[in-house]
Amino acid sequence: MEILKCKDYADMSEKAAELIVNTINGLQKPVLGLATGSTPEGLYRNLIKAYKKNAVSFVNATTFNLDEYVGLREDDPNSYKYYMREKLFDAVDISVEHTHVPNGDTGNPEEECVRYEKQIRDAGYADLQVLGLGLNGHIGFNEPGSSFDTKTHTVDLDLSTRKANARFFDSLEQVPEQAITMGISTIMHGEKIVLLVSGINKADAVKKLVHGEITEEFPASVLQQHGNVIVIGDEAALSKLG
Ligand code: F6R
Repeated sequence: MEILKCKDYADMSEKAAELIVNTINGLQKPVLGLATGSTPEGLYRNLIKAYKKNAVSFVNATTFNLDEYVGLREDDPNSYKYYMREKLFDAVDISVEHTHVPNGDTGNPEEECVRYEKQIRDAGYADLQVLGLGLNGHIGFNEPGSSFDTKTHTVDLDLSTRKANARFFDSLEQVPEQAITMGISTIMHGEKIVLLVSGINKADAVKKLVHGEITEEFPASVLQQHGNVIVIGDEAALSKLG
């Protein structure tokens, strides 16, 4: 696992954007796996900047997001579809048919999971998968205890995850209890994985990810078994690696 130590959040976001721009420019039909949350916001701002400077085009890119809440409409400002449109898609030249976010606003989430997994598989899985890291070790919304064999599936969100994400909602009660997420095996099919971490509150989780036991109780530890992972983090998040 390669570790790239950055000065701060801005530096992390620039380095991550550079890597993604190079990946897109190096492939004819790049497939990107994308994450939401606070951590990649700076990355997306830098991708928009690069697009505006003509350093990159998304016209041949296809994207698959990791996850989506169950029960939110896509025009709900807390849906991940809305986040992606606002933070990236609407500001670059990607065609909307090439962007994929699980549909959480469906009466049949199980069927949606099967459909989504097939779409990713048919696209040949991600050339580059962006991940954030949950404090409890989740990647996507694969919470502790998730089997490493999972494909796209529905999950009951941990209370700790709902609390961590409550900052985006008016109250904890409004945070959905379920989500659809790419599974760990779906994520592990990615050719290259870029995990972004920022801030001292992630330092313990980063230590477990890099040096801890490989266990389903800490889902991100599975990444130790992937041959092409780069962790891009600021000094605070990497401060407990020794
Ligand atoms: C989001 C996702 C989550 C987040 C994680 C960290 O699509 O899959 O695993 O990456 O919860 O979130 P932040 O970046 O807000 O700390």
